[in-house]
Order: sequence, then C-alpha cells, then structure tokens
Amino acid sequence: MTGTRPIHNLALIGFMGTGKSAVGRLIAQILHFTYLDTDQVVEFRAHKTIRDIFQQDGEPAFRDWERVIVEELTRRNKTVISTGGGLPAAQANLDSLKTHSLVVCLWASADTIYERVRDHDHRPLLAEAEPLGKIRELLAVREPYYRQADVLVNTERRSVREVAIQVIHQFHMAQVAHR
Ligand code: S3P
Repeated sequence: MTGTRPIHNLALIGFMGTGKSAVGRLIAQILHFTYLDTDQVVEFRAHKTIRDIFQQDGEPAFRDWERVIVEELTRRNKTVISTGGGLPAAQANLDSLKTHSLVVCLWASADTIYERVRDHDHRPLLAEAEPLGKIRELLAVREPYYRQADVLVNTERRSVREVAIQVIHQFHMAQVAHR
C-alpha cells in the first residue's frame, strides 16, 4: 500500500540481473524522466569501479556511498532510480526511497539470475567459486526487504519492454490514487 505518500519518482529495486538498468532506462525514455543509476553515481564520485571499491576499501565503504546517495535522492523529481541489488537491504535506505518514490521490485529466480549474470565479471559479490550458491544465499537474506516494495514484478521469460510497460502502468495507477 502506498497510502497518501507523495510519489514523484520511480525506484527499481531487486537482485543483480533482474533487469533494473535496462528496464529503468526504457521507462525514463518513455516517461521523459531523468534516469539515475546508483551504481553509476557511486563510481563517478569514487573515481573507481565498484569492483575496485570492494577490493581496495571493502564492502562497508561501498554501502556508505549508497547511503549518502539515497539521502540525496529525497530532493529528486521525475526520476527513474535504478538501485544496486544490495541497497534496499538496509532498512533505512528502503524507508527513504518510499518517502518520494513508488518502489518497484523486479523479481527472478536464482537459476534465471545465474543464467543472466554468469558471463559478467563486474560484480564482486558473485566472484565466487559457487556463484549460484551465493545468489541463493543473498536472495534468502534480501527477500524480506524486496518484499516490502510497493509492487513486485516478475521478469521471468518477459522482455524488457513488457516489464517496463507493466511498471509504467503501476506507476500511473499509484499517481492517480494519490492525486
Ligand atoms: C550489488 C549489486 C550491484 C552493485 C554491487 C553490489 C549487490 O548492482 O551495487 O556490485 O549487493 O547485490 P546491480 O544489482 O545493479 O548489479
């Protein structure tokens, strides 16, 4: 339920490989909203890749970057925000997003996520001997946070466009409900 909260923005949350960036970019294009990817902002500010941040400064330093960026998002308008997969697993981040955004979680099973990310090497949390096991483990820990989204959208066997259209529909309905 979104109650009577203001909804100026659309925030996409969900595990790595659920399509947040691709879907978010398309939605921003269709709605003429600004697109903002929290991972890109972190890399721009830190002047290094996420992989280097994890390696050189550690995961807590990366989570600090995310926390600061989330606080700044409260001042945004007409923005589609694509978040890093672990960002909403800090309750304060999730609560903050809900003060200005419709929070939509993109969902996929561990097996589907594995198929989508297996050939990518830029995600430090999956640089493991057993990435599928790690995906299952992280998904189990994060599921209670992802489930707090206003809307849960399944991305299994659906194109980026199909998912984007469904999310836009939900966004319009939420805005009408809050007028
Ligand atoms: C992470 C997900 C990544 C990125 C970082 C950590 C996570 O973002 O923020 O590698 O903790 O799940 P994507 O979900 O965009 O891959």
